[in-house]
Amino acid sequence: MSAFPTPYVSPMLRPLAVVLALLAAVACGEPSQLQTVAGGEMLTVENGAVASTNLWSSRAGAEVLLEGGNAVDAAIAVGFALAVTNPTAGNIGGGGFMVVRTPDGETTTFDFREKAPLASHPEMFYDEDGEFSRDIRHRSHISVGVPGTVAGFELAHQRLGQADWARLVEPSIGLARDGIELTPDLAGSIANAVGRMQERGYEASVQAFSRDGVPYEAGELWQQPDLAMTLERIRDEGRDGFYRGETADLLVAEMERGGGIITHEDLEIYEAVERAPIEGTFLGYDVISMGPPSSGGTAIVQMLNILEGFDLPAIGHNSPEYVHHVAEAMRFAFRDRAAHLADMDFSDVPLERLTSKEYADELRAQIDPDMAGESSVADVELAMESAETTHYSVVDADGMAVSVTYTLEGGYGSHITVPGAGFLLNNEMGDFNAGPGITDETGLIGTEPNLARPEQRMLSSMSPTILARDGELVAVIGTPGGRTIINTVLQLALNRMAFQMEPMEMLSAGRFHHQWLPDRITVEEAIATPELMSRLEEMGHTVEPRTRQGAAHSIVIDMETGERIGIPDPRITDGTAVGY
Ligand code: GLY
Repeated sequence: MSAFPTPYVSPMLRPLAVVLALLAAVACGEPSQLQTVAGGEMLTVENGAVASTNLWSSRAGAEVLLEGGNAVDAAIAVGFALAVTNPTAGNIGGGGFMVVRTPDGETTTFDFREKAPLASHPEMFYDEDGEFSRDIRHRSHISVGVPGTVAGFELAHQRLGQADWARLVEPSIGLARDGIELTPDLAGSIANAVGRMQERGYEASVQAFSRDGVPYEAGELWQQPDLAMTLERIRDEGRDGFYRGETADLLVAEMERGGGIITHEDLEIYEAVERAPIEGTFLGYDVISMGPPSSGGTAIVQMLNILEGFDLPAIGHNSPEYVHHVAEAMRFAFRDRAAHLADMDFSDVPLERLTSKEYADELRAQIDPDMAGESSVADVELAMESAETTHYSVVDADGMAVSVTYTLEGGYGSHITVPGAGFLLNNEMGDFNAGPGITDETGLIGTEPNLARPEQRMLSSMSPTILARDGELVAVIGTPGGRTIINTVLQLALNRMAFQMEPMEMLSAGRFHHQWLPDRITVEEAIATPELMSRLEEMGHTVEPRTRQGAAHSIVIDMETGERIGIPDPRITDGTAVGY
């Protein structure tokens, strides 16, 4: 049963949202061949499609596809456009991951996760009294990792792109320079962020995101001239336009002003990396996802391997028994994530074992069909991760598929805008562990693998994923949501692979989350019926309702017609799919 048959906002507003999206498309001179749908609608097209969190970005990518660019080209254009139009997570001052499947079935990934600056060390988040400080780790210039997005996009473009680089950056420059008319959701989000920026005394941010401290209203034009100039440097010089010259000078000056540690050398030596994906199988499907420093692909394959041994349709989708079995698989995967996952350039991660069918057999045998397992409090809890990330999906006319999730970590990252350069810096250092040996009941973790060290990448949950079967592309999926990312992507994959759900059902079906510790299942309100919750409690689970989980802008292929079905997650009002 669908939990979200219409957008998460009032269904009464949905037709209005669609009309507004279409009007905005026309006002922006969208080529007539492009079709557009807003959250809650499905786009069905024969050639190329983009699904992302807003119209401006999906359109920027779809126009590249229409002009003959491939899915990697379009993904780069979407990423730059989001850096202007989605300040909670879109970025050039953060990082992320891109998973690619070519039309002939080759797969690869691009890791542009931020890195710890050279001056980092495991105890860098302690205050002058030697006490761990959450504020230093997550709310300071120290919390900023060396950004990776521009280097990652350039690497992906060099490897697989075919359009002119400048063409891919150009739409974002126009959006920043000419401005965008704020939607109600975006205006509200920015107004909240400006309050926090004022509290923290980040004047350049207040200037960039308000009119002298007065928040913009919905419908007002929001221009970002400094960001436009930074993007022009990136357009003209590629990565050097960000990691060298004026942009780098401005970033380093802000670090020196605010007590941060990123230097010119940190920027110079930052490299994005092309890595092999994590690949698994489930009932004849191929699952292609992101490996370390993401924990996502590893955990998803581990859970799918466990669940493949159960007859899930017989158990019944989102029945109490289903939630129980899937939650027990989640418990194992998140325990192993805490114990083992980190940047493999710095730690040995037993990937082969974690993703093997044999290990899954061992774990499956430990699941009691009627009783919740245990998460030992002697074990460790993970550091908090923000839900503020963004995901987008692209498929081109030839069938190349690209799945991108990228982030600033917290919404608006560190809230620090680089003065004169107009872009927000991440607070991704908060995804490192707190400090050596300081694991405690409050959620701090001090295990070795994910401690901050020079040039190490912090552990992530971002899980851009592609599904295929018999050599054919099936779906491009992913989502924001901190640690819930992993479980949302798992459930999207199960909805398709185990239950053969139609695309909208696959996206709208209710979601739930268990992450080992805290030992509880959170369940989307739309499916958190008294019957479900009480039966899970009888089995020994602690359960809690939650408003919504994820924003999984996805593309599914109709296996009979080959049509691309773009589905902005119905939970998100501004989500948009554009294609032709
Ligand atoms: N900062 C969220 C993540 O990387 O998973």
